[in-house]
Amino acid sequence: MHSKKYFIANWKMNGLKGDLNQISIIDNFLKKKNKLSALNCIFCIPYTILGLALINLKLKKVKIGAQDVSNEAFDFGPSTGQISSKMLKDLNCKFTILGHSEKRFNGDTEHQISQKIGMAVKNNIKVILCVGENLKDYKKKKSFYKVKKQLQLSLKKNKKYLKNIIFAYEPIWSIGTGIIPENSYLNNFFLKIKKYLKNEFKIKATVIYGGSVSPKNINELKNIDLCDGFLIGGASLKHKNFIDIIKKYYN
Ligand code: 13P
Repeated sequence: MHSKKYFIANWKMNGLKGDLNQISIIDNFLKKKNKLSALNCIFCIPYTILGLALINLKLKKVKIGAQDVSNEAFDFGPSTGQISSKMLKDLNCKFTILGHSEKRFNGDTEHQISQKIGMAVKNNIKVILCVGENLKDYKKKKSFYKVKKQLQLSLKKNKKYLKNIIFAYEPIWSIGTGIIPENSYLNNFFLKIKKYLKNEFKIKATVIYGGSVSPKNINELKNIDLCDGFLIGGASLKHKNFIDIIKKYYN
């Protein structure tokens, strides 16, 4: 359980300049805890403060990532409102979330997600690829079928980039609800995802869990043997909650 784990924050549409000190506090905490050196910590924050963080914060342990990139096949051009992977590379940004259910809900298609993966990896940006089913599919026991489809469609044209992807299983019905799946369900689900990626794409995948992760339920979630870490929304906004999650995980 104590191999290199990922603790990734997704700030979503939250965070002003003044909130960047939350990240500095977490960086200081990790610097002091040598035994946590094997931990990967990435904060995926809005574009408006991402440049500031990468240029000003001088972080030692925490890495900064984005929450999306443009799917355009070009680096610069007529695409109002979009941010290209090249622009993020210019800031030395090394990670981005892609395919989050909130982006999918707003119109991101599998095809676009697949294009985004290609553009990100070509620019040396590692992808945190989110997949997950909605409540209806969960109730119909179609969760794995849905997730498999998402993986298939976004990966088939990105086979040479697979090593640059961290997979995040985020059941939509768990995001922001305080409800998490049962341990036995998650253990089984992680096994299935990893097996599928191994058989179909020949990779030993890193797979993390996202959905209502908090200091209250981390003791339960840490028992999922095959889980390589967590993608944390609400509980990543305040340093205390985020640090509590890490402390409890390693206790
Ligand atoms: P919450 O932790 O707020 O449920 O959000 C999870 C999530 O969507 C992370 O990407």
